[in-house]
Amino acid sequence: MKIERFDNDEVLASTLATRLIDAIFLNPRLVLGLPTGRTPVALYRELRWHSQRGHADWSQVRTFNLDEFVGLGAGDPGSYRSYMQAALFDHVRMTPEQIGMLDGRAPNLAAECARYERAIAQAGGIDLQILGIGANGHIGFNEPGDTLEAETHVAELRAETRRANAGWFGGDTTRVPSHALSMGLATILRAREIVLMATGAGKQDAVAGLVNGQLTPRLPASFLQLHPRVTAMLDRGAAQRLA
Ligand code: PGA
Repeated sequence: MKIERFDNDEVLASTLATRLIDAIFLNPRLVLGLPTGRTPVALYRELRWHSQRGHADWSQVRTFNLDEFVGLGAGDPGSYRSYMQAALFDHVRMTPEQIGMLDGRAPNLAAECARYERAIAQAGGIDLQILGIGANGHIGFNEPGDTLEAETHVAELRAETRRANAGWFGGDTTRVPSHALSMGLATILRAREIVLMATGAGKQDAVAGLVNGQLTPRLPASFLQLHPRVTAMLDRGAAQRLA
């Protein structure tokens, strides 16, 4: 795993944004896997900045988001769909057909998960997957547990994850949905390249496990050690337990 350290999250975000703009330039049909959460907020701000200045042509790019809350969708302010529209999709030239998102309001969630796997495969697979990491070591909504799911699935969120997401729901943890749809570990590991961003001291233990820990479903991100092309982009806080 390649480790990159940055003085702060702003430099990290602007560096990754520039790389993504370059990647789209080199491959206009890039298939991107995208995260939500607090960590990539600055990344999306940088991408909007570049896109507003014509630095990137999004008209052939495909995107697939990692996850979505069950029961929420377009129009729900807490949905990841709403987050992504505001963060990126409303600001770049993309048609709905280019945007892959799980539908948390699908009547048949298992069928929705299967549809998503097919859509990713039909797009030729994900070229570059951007990830955040939970303080508990989750990626997407693959939560620590006795076992992990390989493919896109319905996930039950742990209490700490619901608390960590409460900010998107007026600070009220009880309003955070109890379940989500998420790409599985195999879905994520099939990406040709992975970039994980981690910022803040609250992520230092998860990052230590990601980089140096044993492979364990207790820290789902540890399985990224199996992938040949992973870069972990870290700020000082997140990197502080690394030598
Ligand atoms: P965060 O979430 O960016 O809001 O800390 C990261 C994650 O849970 O993957």
